Amino acid sequence: MGKHIESIGGSLTDSRRKFIEKAGLATIMSTFGVAFFTSCSSTEDADPNNPNNPPSGDQPNGITISGTTVRIDLSVQTRLAASGGWLLIQNARTLVANVNGSYVAMTSVCTHSGCFDSWTFANNRFTCTCHGSVFDPSGRVLQGPAASPLQQYTTQLSGTTLTITR
Ligand code: FES
Repeated sequence: MGKHIESIGGSLTDSRRKFIEKAGLATIMSTFGVAFFTSCSSTEDADPNNPNNPPSGDQPNGITISGTTVRIDLSVQTRLAASGGWLLIQNARTLVANVNGSYVAMTSVCTHSGCFDSWTFANNRFTCTCHGSVFDPSGRVLQGPAASPLQQYTTQLSGTTLTITR
C-alpha cells in the first residue's frame, strides 16, 4: 500500500525553497515524498480555527475542517473506500483509515516525540516513520519507542459523509 498524504494549505519557508531549488525537485520528491513539502513548523500550517484557512465546504478533496470536526465526503475522497485505505489530514493532525469496512480516526501527533506528518499505514498498522513506533488501529502501541497510545477520535458515517470528532 502506498503512502497517502492529504494536505490542506501550508507553505514553504525561504530556506526550504532554496534548498529545493538547489537539490532539484525530482530528487526531493523521490527522497522525502510529498510530505516534505507540507511538513512545516506549526506556525506555517493553516490552523483550522484561523480565518485565513481555506473556507470550509467545497474543497475539491472532499475534506472539511471546522473547529474540532472533520468531515470527509467519501464520494469525493475515494482513498478511504476500500479496506486498507487511509489518509493523513495534516491540518487536522488526524489519521483516518478504513479497517475491514469500519472507519477509525486518531491523532497524528505521535506520543513519542510529536511527529505528526510522517506516517504509513499497512496491514492495519500505523507506523510513525520518525523513529519507527507502530500502533494498531485503536491507537495502541505495538512497538516503541512510543510508550503511550494515540488518542482516538470518534467517527460517524452518515450516507457518504464520514464525520470525525476530535
Ligand atoms: S515521534 Fe513517532 S516514533 Fe518518534
